[in-house]
Amino acid sequence: MPRAIAFAAYGGPEHLGIIDVPSRGPAPDEVVITVRASGLNPVDLKLGSGYRGDDPARLPLRIGFEAAGVVAAVGSDGLTGADGAPIAVGDEVLAFRVPGAHATELTVPARDVLQKPAELSFEQAAGLLLAAATAEDALQTVRLAAGETVLVHGVAGSVGRATAQLARHRGARVVGTAAAHRHEELRALGVEPVRYGDGLLVRLEPLGPYAAAVDTIGTAEAGETSVALVADPTRIVTITGSPAILAAGGTAIGGGNPRSDAVRDAARAELVRLAAAGELDLPVVAARPFDDFRAAFALLAEGHAGGKIVLVP
Ligand SMILES: NC(=O)c1ccc[n+]([C@@H]2O[C@H](COP(=O)([O-])OP(=O)(O)OC[C@H]3O[C@@H](n4cnc5c(N)ncnc54)[C@H](OP(=O)(O)O)[C@@H]3O)[C@@H](O)[C@H]2O)c1
Repeated sequence: MPRAIAFAAYGGPEHLGIIDVPSRGPAPDEVVITVRASGLNPVDLKLGSGYRGDDPARLPLRIGFEAAGVVAAVGSDGLTGADGAPIAVGDEVLAFRVPGAHATELTVPARDVLQKPAELSFEQAAGLLLAAATAEDALQTVRLAAGETVLVHGVAGSVGRATAQLARHRGARVVGTAAAHRHEELRALGVEPVRYGDGLLVRLEPLGPYAAAVDTIGTAEAGETSVALVADPTRIVTITGSPAILAAGGTAIGGGNPRSDAVRDAARAELVRLAAAGELDLPVVAARPFDDFRAAFALLAEGHAGGKIVLVP
């Protein structure tokens, strides 16, 4: 029987466990995927904490939004995926915006499935799209253009790295905040790294002016320095709901917001193409066996992984 990771109760990761789920045949517009890897994201743990509601009727609450694997069945002939390609049994694919993705088998709409390029491993493909689509949404929101400088808070994280690479791809300059031991690898991505913490504004000022800012961290200093350094608040975006940014007139984006969902869905195929071409690289820093999910989520909860963590069934 397929297995899935789920919260048995709302709260911390100690409530996570593995549940058996009945195998479900596909509806005419769906495909069944044998999962080879699923990508962890901070939202997985946030959902369990109840930040989007704590309805007991939703327990056990399955988590995860992205995975990669092999098509085991199709609901009907002639189905095409989000990239417009036909989907057949045996295809290697990735799926994004598929709730409950931490599982050994998934039955999902064909419209959320894309062909996995041979250049990407299952692990790379499983961790690509949530972070990259968020980054693309952020850059479209701040209207970043070639030749401009963008400030990225949390540039060593998954969304931060994707934001930096997509900004560079647009011909922009990137200044980003990160722990000092990350600076060398970030310079290799074309980022000008700055250490976060006390005195951040003084360190950032000489590297400006900044046309736009992207907050992927939500600390007070990330919000306050963004507001202090970017003249037009409509060109500041937060993916963490930073109160300072929202109070100044900046924009919050997030999955579940119809505009964000449309932008992210539309970007998926191009983001996969960029990753296959080597122009977008989110390193997989830990691939843990499915049964070792506690270690994987403990690493995620520490908040300094510096790349993607994936589960391998
Ligand atoms: N709104 C949305 O649609 C959306 C989508 C995706 C993610 N998110 C949220 O965005 C946040 C980041 O997600 P993620 O997937 O990028 O997480 P992640 O991969 O775990 O990255 C977090 C990074 O934050 C850095 N960091 C920690 N403390 C910092 C600080 N004080 N200043 C600057 N950087 C710091 C760490 O790098 P160092 O090694 O440099 O410390 C770490 O690599 C999470 O809260 C997540 O829930 C929101």
